[in-house]
Amino acid sequence: MRPSRRQFVQGSMAATLAAAFPTNIHASLATDGFIEFTAGPTKKKLFREDGTDSQLWTYNKSSPGPEIRVKRGERVKVRLINQLEEPTSIHWHGVRIANAMDGVSGLTQDGVLPGETFEYDFTVPDAGTYWYHAHNKSWNQVARGLYGALIVEEDEQVFDRDHDLTLVIDDWRLDREGALDIASMGSLMDWSHGGRLGNWLTVNGKPTPGFELRSGEAYRLRLINASNARTLEIDPNRFGALVLGYDGQPLKEPEKISGSRMLIGSGQRVDLLVIPKSGDNFSIEELSPDQPFAFANFTIIEGADNGSADIRLVSNNIPDPDYANTRDFRLHMIGGAMSNGGEIVYKGKKLQGEDFRTTRQVWAFNGVANLADEPFFSIARNETIIIETFNDTSFMHAMHLHGHHFRIIDSGDGVTNHNAPWMDTYMIKPAQTTRIAFVADNPGKWLLHCHMLEHAAAGMTTWINVA
Ligand code: C2O
Ligand code: CU
Repeated sequence: MRPSRRQFVQGSMAATLAAAFPTNIHASLATDGFIEFTAGPTKKKLFREDGTDSQLWTYNKSSPGPEIRVKRGERVKVRLINQLEEPTSIHWHGVRIANAMDGVSGLTQDGVLPGETFEYDFTVPDAGTYWYHAHNKSWNQVARGLYGALIVEEDEQVFDRDHDLTLVIDDWRLDREGALDIASMGSLMDWSHGGRLGNWLTVNGKPTPGFELRSGEAYRLRLINASNARTLEIDPNRFGALVLGYDGQPLKEPEKISGSRMLIGSGQRVDLLVIPKSGDNFSIEELSPDQPFAFANFTIIEGADNGSADIRLVSNNIPDPDYANTRDFRLHMIGGAMSNGGEIVYKGKKLQGEDFRTTRQVWAFNGVANLADEPFFSIARNETIIIETFNDTSFMHAMHLHGHHFRIIDSGDGVTNHNAPWMDTYMIKPAQTTRIAFVADNPGKWLLHCHMLEHAAAGMTTWINVA
């Protein structure tokens, strides 16, 4: 499914020209300095103000949840209060965090039970655009609204708050009444195909919101793809935008994308630099439907004309791989609909016939579905790791490694680039082979999974152990 014609029409009508800068909802601060995040059910209208309520799950009654903004090196203290009817946890996506705070239920912590609390307390080593989301049955909890932005500002402010916009983009599946489609949650059809794709895009919880920008002034747009499975396709060249960074990590200088499509996979972020021209209103469009779909509109008003693209974001201190001494591993992705075959072992048992339906495990890494007791590999701290991934399935995937950033040194076209941008999630197309490289400098148990959350639940999840 794709954003439908109906959404396109409704979305355009909803696109009023209000100066809707994303509001920075302030979370309640407890006296001990913890921000309190209450995860609980909330009714909200996603489709139209006079439409049917959706039954969402939210942090502090809002989806996206409160935007957290801190400076690099600062501490983030969040007390999670679970008022859901099932266990939950929060993962701080892209933050090179201490392992015990990574928030992965069943690997780095136990799920926080209903009625219980958990305190997250960590420092953020890198400036950039990050996000947080539930990490227990994420396919269900993220689809219902449990996520938000985590923005880490540079030591010296580069863009002031008026010129720094967060766009948290989500792809909801609405039913005929315009409410969140809960009946189709967990559909095996989605799990074995492209994941849960929706029919209603929102930005900061609103369909096609409008933003007002001043001509000639430099803006940073932080795009976060919070969709369960949708890969967004945009073309920043259509509105003259340059890329400042990917997955939170800045490029050396703002760059124009090559070609006319940028893919933003589930979990990925991209920071764009825009200096709008007087009179040049523009939209950001999702280009995968037959007809481009505008999901954010920008109206340009008279500005100061003092913006410059000569912006250098200071890079974070990520250790560079030692390419002369690497440990190499290979990940073979199999399974899913229209599969090329291959055996799948789940909990020590080879799956056959009805097993796929009963276990709901249909994808595997190196023949093993889902979190096994044994990691994909164990390594010593500070070793340079290269993972070669071969996508032997009929679908694209968005592979995310926890606790580290890596460089995609090879996308399968025979060119090696040791200076490729740092990322925490890599896209891989059917039949593609990629190699990523990183220094495993962060001790602990780190998840490696497809961020199309249904794929992760249906087998595409493993972990690595850094001693
Ligand atoms: Cu954003 Cu393990 O995920
Ligand atoms: Cu996938």
